[in-house]
Amino acid sequence: MGDLALSAQHVTKVYPGSGGGPPALADLSLDIPTGGIYGLIGRNGAGKTTFVRISATQLALTSGTLTVLGHDVRTEERAIRARIACVPQESRPLYFLTVEEVVHLYLKMRGLPPADARRRTEAALAELSLTEYRRRLVNRLSGGLRRRTLCAMVLASDADVLFLDEPTTGLDPVARREVWQAVRRASREHRTVLLTTHYLDEVEALSGRLALIEQGRLRLEGTPTELRDRVRFPYRVTVRGDVRREALASYGRIAPIDGGYLVFAREAEARELTRWGLERGLRLSMGPVSLEDIFLEVVGKPIDVDDAPLAEEAEA
Ligand SMILES: Nc1ncnc2c1ncn2[C@@H]1O[C@H](COP(=O)(O)OP(=O)(O)OP(=O)(O)O)[C@@H](O)[C@H]1O
Ligand SMILES: [Mg+2]
Repeated sequence: MGDLALSAQHVTKVYPGSGGGPPALADLSLDIPTGGIYGLIGRNGAGKTTFVRISATQLALTSGTLTVLGHDVRTEERAIRARIACVPQESRPLYFLTVEEVVHLYLKMRGLPPADARRRTEAALAELSLTEYRRRLVNRLSGGLRRRTLCAMVLASDADVLFLDEPTTGLDPVARREVWQAVRRASREHRTVLLTTHYLDEVEALSGRLALIEQGRLRLEGTPTELRDRVRFPYRVTVRGDVRREALASYGRIAPIDGGYLVFAREAEARELTRWGLERGLRLSMGPVSLEDIFLEVVGKPIDVDDAPLAEEAEA
């Protein structure tokens, strides 16, 4: 098995008092290699946070085995805690401390030498553009700035495995990208990042591998390319102009979009449709499906239903 940051084997979680309802995690097996950014996606209630909390030894599993860096979450939680850091989904950072103090104290608590803690604090505040807020009390910051402070804390740490549960939810677009940069930097330092998010562009931009969980079960796992290879229609073609739906029907699955149609197709049909459309002077774009397309295909409503919401094609 070699170098695994995390290995889950047949993990099941039933919350006490869930009264015979479906388990939050059901026989979930997942291996996460060290040193990359691993994405965890799924609908609300799919079990992502439950998985993260079990991995971070904050919550007990019901059955199965889960190891972090080779240590069992049931019996070696101290060893695990020394090597992980976590941005929880819901969090109230410490009150009555400034941004700088929160980050610095966290690093000192983790046992970093003072000079190191100081240096890393400075770097993390700069990295997430928090330097101008360093003397502000955390409990008086806006929600997004509090979240950034928490990210700074965890990303400044020396932990080998970072659990980030929706780290960029509520962040402005600039701050989001700063967090991405910091996450990439952590990964270049050969640390492992487990990233949970609903922003699929984020997973696309950052993650080498990802897992899609649905109702506590693993639905898809692999690199974005591997996932694409496993869906029926790996290409998307948008067609705009004077075209009728019936003319497109034979190419694949069709969804109406503003001013035209979006067609999900296999490669050969996608190419053929593109040729056909260009000859007729239609406006076209063709490319591989996005993670969002895959997500909607696997766990969403059927996308060929006329009233299904569908994101506009952004790039040409
Ligand atoms: N403390 C709890 N007690 C009982 N049931 C819980 C508890 N926390 C979560 N659950 C249930 O477990 C399931 C998985 O929840 P979880 O929070 O892991 O989902 P999630 O994938 O993180 O969702 P989201 O995207 O909304 O954050 C849900 O059905 C949820 O209702
Ligand atoms: Mg969650």
